[in-house]
Amino acid sequence: MEITMVVATTLNGKITQGDKGGSSWTSKEDSEFLDKIEKQNNLIIMGSKTFEISYNLQHLPVSDKLHIIMTHNKSKYANYQKNGYFEFTDQNPKEIIDNLVMRGYKKGLLLGGSSIYTLFLLNNLVDIIYVTIEPKMFGLGKSVIETLPFEVNLKLCEVKQVNTQGTILLKYKVNKGTIVQKQETPLE
Ligand SMILES: NC(=O)c1ccc[n+]([C@@H]2O[C@H](COP(=O)([O-])OP(=O)(O)OC[C@H]3O[C@@H](n4cnc5c(N)ncnc54)[C@H](OP(=O)(O)O)[C@@H]3O)[C@@H](O)[C@H]2O)c1
Repeated sequence: MEITMVVATTLNGKITQGDKGGSSWTSKEDSEFLDKIEKQNNLIIMGSKTFEISYNLQHLPVSDKLHIIMTHNKSKYANYQKNGYFEFTDQNPKEIIDNLVMRGYKKGLLLGGSSIYTLFLLNNLVDIIYVTIEPKMFGLGKSVIETLPFEVNLKLCEVKQVNTQGTILLKYKVNKGTIVQKQETPLE
Protein backbone atom coordinates (compact mmCIF):
# COMPACT_ATOMS: atom_id res chain seq x y z
CA MET A 1 0.00 0.00 0.00
CA GLU A 2 1.42 3.37 -1.01
CA ILE A 3 0.36 6.23 1.24
CA THR A 4 0.81 9.80 0.04
CA MET A 5 0.63 12.56 2.62
CA VAL A 6 -0.58 15.91 1.26
CA VAL A 7 -0.12 19.09 3.25
CA ALA A 8 -0.17 22.84 2.75
CA THR A 9 2.01 24.81 5.11
CA THR A 10 3.41 28.26 5.72
CA LEU A 11 7.13 28.90 5.51
CA ASN A 12 7.32 28.31 9.28
CA GLY A 13 5.47 24.99 9.18
CA LYS A 14 1.96 26.04 10.23
CA ILE A 15 -1.01 24.21 8.70
CA THR A 16 -3.68 26.41 10.31
CA GLN A 17 -4.02 30.15 10.73
CA GLY A 18 -4.08 30.32 14.52
CA ASP A 19 -7.12 28.44 15.82
CA LYS A 20 -8.95 28.84 12.54
CA GLY A 21 -9.35 25.63 10.55
CA GLY A 22 -9.94 25.36 6.83
CA SER A 23 -8.01 26.45 3.81
CA SER A 24 -8.96 30.13 3.37
CA TRP A 25 -5.24 31.08 3.46
CA THR A 26 -4.00 28.66 0.82
CA SER A 27 -3.61 29.52 -2.86
CA LYS A 28 -5.89 28.69 -5.78
CA GLU A 29 -3.01 26.63 -7.18
CA ASP A 30 -2.87 24.52 -4.01
CA SER A 31 -6.65 23.84 -4.21
CA GLU A 32 -6.24 22.85 -7.85
CA PHE A 33 -3.40 20.48 -6.95
CA LEU A 34 -5.49 18.93 -4.17
CA ASP A 35 -8.45 18.44 -6.54
CA LYS A 36 -6.16 16.83 -9.09
CA ILE A 37 -4.50 14.40 -6.71
CA GLU A 38 -7.84 13.50 -5.09
CA LYS A 39 -9.17 12.56 -8.55
CA GLN A 40 -6.22 10.15 -8.94
CA ASN A 41 -7.02 8.33 -5.69
CA ASN A 42 -10.04 6.39 -4.49
CA LEU A 43 -9.02 6.34 -0.83
CA ILE A 44 -8.66 9.23 1.61
CA ILE A 45 -7.64 9.01 5.26
CA MET A 46 -8.14 11.84 7.76
CA GLY A 47 -8.84 12.71 11.38
CA SER A 48 -12.29 13.65 12.65
CA LYS A 49 -11.35 17.33 13.08
CA THR A 50 -10.25 17.63 9.46
CA PHE A 51 -13.40 15.77 8.42
CA GLU A 52 -15.63 18.20 10.32
CA ILE A 53 -13.89 21.23 8.86
CA SER A 54 -13.72 19.91 5.31
CA TYR A 55 -17.32 18.83 4.81
CA ASN A 56 -20.76 20.28 5.22
CA LEU A 57 -22.11 17.73 7.67
CA GLN A 58 -25.70 18.53 6.72
CA HIS A 59 -24.99 17.54 3.12
CA LEU A 60 -22.12 15.10 2.82
CA PRO A 61 -21.13 14.90 -0.84
CA VAL A 62 -22.05 11.94 -2.97
CA SER A 63 -18.62 10.42 -3.33
CA ASP A 64 -17.01 7.72 -5.39
CA LYS A 65 -14.15 7.43 -2.89
CA LEU A 66 -13.67 5.69 0.41
CA HIS A 67 -13.02 8.15 3.23
CA ILE A 68 -11.53 6.61 6.37
CA ILE A 69 -12.04 8.95 9.30
CA MET A 70 -10.16 8.29 12.53
CA THR A 71 -12.00 8.92 15.78
CA HIS A 72 -12.07 7.53 19.30
CA ASN A 73 -15.80 8.15 19.32
CA LYS A 74 -17.44 6.23 16.47
CA SER A 75 -20.92 6.58 17.94
CA LYS A 76 -20.72 10.39 17.56
CA TYR A 77 -20.46 9.88 13.79
CA ALA A 78 -22.90 6.96 13.40
CA ASN A 79 -25.28 9.09 11.30
CA TYR A 80 -22.55 9.83 8.76
CA GLN A 81 -21.29 6.25 8.41
CA LYS A 82 -21.83 5.02 4.86
CA ASN A 83 -19.94 1.80 4.18
CA GLY A 84 -17.57 2.10 1.24
CA TYR A 85 -17.77 5.92 1.26
CA PHE A 86 -17.51 7.39 4.76
CA GLU A 87 -16.22 4.96 7.37
CA PHE A 88 -15.31 5.97 10.93
CA THR A 89 -12.77 3.90 12.79
CA ASP A 90 -10.95 3.67 16.10
CA GLN A 91 -8.47 1.12 14.76
CA ASN A 92 -4.78 1.95 14.90
CA PRO A 93 -3.01 2.93 11.65
CA LYS A 94 -1.53 -0.53 11.03
CA GLU A 95 -4.91 -2.21 11.49
CA ILE A 96 -6.48 0.35 9.16
CA ILE A 97 -3.92 -0.28 6.43
CA ASP A 98 -4.05 -4.08 6.82
CA ASN A 99 -7.82 -3.96 6.47
CA LEU A 100 -7.62 -1.72 3.38
CA VAL A 101 -5.05 -4.00 1.76
CA MET A 102 -7.37 -6.96 2.35
CA ARG A 103 -10.11 -4.98 0.62
CA GLY A 104 -7.85 -4.48 -2.41
CA TYR A 105 -6.74 -0.88 -1.96
CA LYS A 106 -3.23 -0.25 -3.29
CA LYS A 107 -2.78 3.47 -2.65
CA GLY A 108 -4.34 6.28 -0.68
CA LEU A 109 -4.04 9.89 0.40
CA LEU A 110 -3.38 11.02 3.94
CA LEU A 111 -5.04 14.42 4.32
CA GLY A 112 -4.28 15.25 7.94
CA GLY A 113 -4.39 17.00 10.26
CA SER A 114 -1.31 17.15 12.44
CA SER A 115 -2.29 14.28 14.71
CA ILE A 116 -2.97 11.90 11.82
CA TYR A 117 0.17 12.89 9.89
CA THR A 118 2.17 12.25 13.08
CA LEU A 119 0.54 8.87 13.77
CA PHE A 120 1.15 7.54 10.28
CA LEU A 121 4.72 8.85 10.14
CA LEU A 122 5.53 7.32 13.52
CA ASN A 123 4.13 4.02 12.30
CA ASN A 124 6.32 4.10 9.17
CA LEU A 125 3.29 4.14 6.92
CA VAL A 126 3.93 7.21 4.75
CA ASP A 127 5.72 6.72 1.42
CA ILE A 128 5.42 10.08 -0.35
CA ILE A 129 4.84 13.62 0.90
CA TYR A 130 3.56 16.50 -1.22
CA VAL A 131 4.06 19.83 0.52
CA THR A 132 2.72 23.11 -0.71
CA ILE A 133 4.66 25.94 0.90
CA GLU A 134 2.66 29.13 0.82
CA PRO A 135 4.70 32.35 1.01
CA LYS A 136 3.36 33.25 4.46
CA MET A 137 4.31 32.90 8.10
CA PHE A 138 1.82 32.55 10.96
CA GLY A 139 2.96 33.12 14.51
CA LEU A 140 0.14 30.91 15.78
CA GLY A 141 -1.31 27.70 14.41
CA LYS A 142 -0.93 23.95 14.29
CA SER A 143 2.33 22.55 13.02
CA VAL A 144 2.61 19.93 10.28
CA ILE A 145 3.54 17.36 12.91
CA GLU A 146 3.02 17.29 16.63
CA THR A 147 5.71 18.29 19.10
CA LEU A 148 7.15 14.86 19.80
CA PRO A 149 10.75 13.69 19.84
CA PHE A 150 11.09 11.99 16.48
CA GLU A 151 12.89 12.52 13.20
CA VAL A 152 11.91 11.68 9.63
CA ASN A 153 14.43 11.74 6.78
CA LEU A 154 13.25 12.58 3.29
CA LYS A 155 14.52 12.70 -0.26
CA LEU A 156 13.45 15.62 -2.42
CA CYS A 157 12.06 14.40 -5.77
CA GLU A 158 10.39 17.47 -7.33
CA VAL A 159 10.29 21.24 -6.90
CA LYS A 160 7.82 23.44 -8.71
CA GLN A 161 6.90 27.12 -8.33
CA VAL A 162 3.17 27.23 -9.10
CA ASN A 163 2.39 30.98 -9.13
CA THR A 164 4.07 34.37 -9.31
CA GLN A 165 3.54 35.01 -5.59
CA GLY A 166 5.95 32.15 -4.93
CA THR A 167 3.86 29.17 -3.80
CA ILE A 168 6.12 26.14 -4.05
CA LEU A 169 5.04 22.52 -4.49
CA LEU A 170 7.53 19.95 -3.27
CA LYS A 171 7.46 16.18 -3.58
CA TYR A 172 9.46 14.05 -1.15
CA LYS A 173 10.03 10.35 -0.75
CA VAL A 174 10.10 9.17 2.84
CA ASN A 175 13.25 7.28 3.76
CA LYS A 176 11.24 4.85 5.85
CA GLY A 177 14.22 3.09 7.37
CA THR A 178 15.33 6.31 9.02
CA ILE A 179 12.33 7.36 11.08
CA VAL A 180 13.81 7.75 14.52
CA GLN A 181 11.94 8.01 17.78
CA LYS A 182 14.17 9.80 20.27
CA GLN A 183 12.35 8.33 23.25
CA GLU A 184 9.16 6.44 24.03
CA THR A 185 6.32 8.11 22.09
CA PRO A 186 2.72 6.96 21.75
CA LEU A 187 2.15 4.99 18.57
CA GLU A 188 -1.62 4.54 18.61
N1 LIG B 1 -2.97 22.86 5.82
C1 LIG B 1 -3.27 21.58 5.61
O1 LIG B 1 -2.78 20.95 4.66
C2 LIG B 1 -4.22 20.88 6.52
C3 LIG B 1 -4.53 19.54 6.28
C4 LIG B 1 -5.41 18.90 7.15
C5 LIG B 1 -5.94 19.56 8.23
N2 LIG B 1 -5.62 20.87 8.41
C6 LIG B 1 -6.15 21.57 9.59
O2 LIG B 1 -5.68 20.88 10.74
C7 LIG B 1 -6.66 21.00 11.76
C8 LIG B 1 -6.99 19.62 12.31
O3 LIG B 1 -5.81 18.97 12.71
P1 LIG B 1 -5.78 18.19 14.11
O4 LIG B 1 -4.45 17.58 14.26
O5 LIG B 1 -6.28 19.11 15.17
O6 LIG B 1 -6.95 17.13 13.94
P2 LIG B 1 -7.12 15.86 12.97
O7 LIG B 1 -5.82 15.15 12.87
O8 LIG B 1 -7.81 16.26 11.74
O9 LIG B 1 -8.15 15.02 13.83
C9 LIG B 1 -7.86 14.72 15.17
C10 LIG B 1 -8.86 13.69 15.63
O10 LIG B 1 -8.56 12.44 15.04
C11 LIG B 1 -8.92 11.41 15.94
N3 LIG B 1 -7.75 10.64 16.29
C12 LIG B 1 -6.48 11.08 16.49
N4 LIG B 1 -5.69 10.06 16.84
C13 LIG B 1 -6.47 8.96 16.84
C14 LIG B 1 -6.24 7.59 17.14
N5 LIG B 1 -5.04 7.14 17.49
N6 LIG B 1 -7.27 6.73 17.06
C15 LIG B 1 -8.51 7.16 16.71
N7 LIG B 1 -8.79 8.46 16.43
C16 LIG B 1 -7.78 9.33 16.50
C17 LIG B 1 -9.50 12.07 17.18
O11 LIG B 1 -10.89 12.19 16.91
P3 LIG B 1 -12.03 12.25 18.07
O12 LIG B 1 -11.80 13.56 18.75
O13 LIG B 1 -13.29 12.21 17.25
O14 LIG B 1 -11.83 11.05 18.92
C18 LIG B 1 -8.82 13.44 17.14
O15 LIG B 1 -9.53 14.44 17.82
C19 LIG B 1 -7.87 21.65 11.15
O16 LIG B 1 -7.88 23.00 11.54
C20 LIG B 1 -7.65 21.52 9.65
O17 LIG B 1 -8.24 22.59 8.93
C21 LIG B 1 -4.77 21.53 7.60
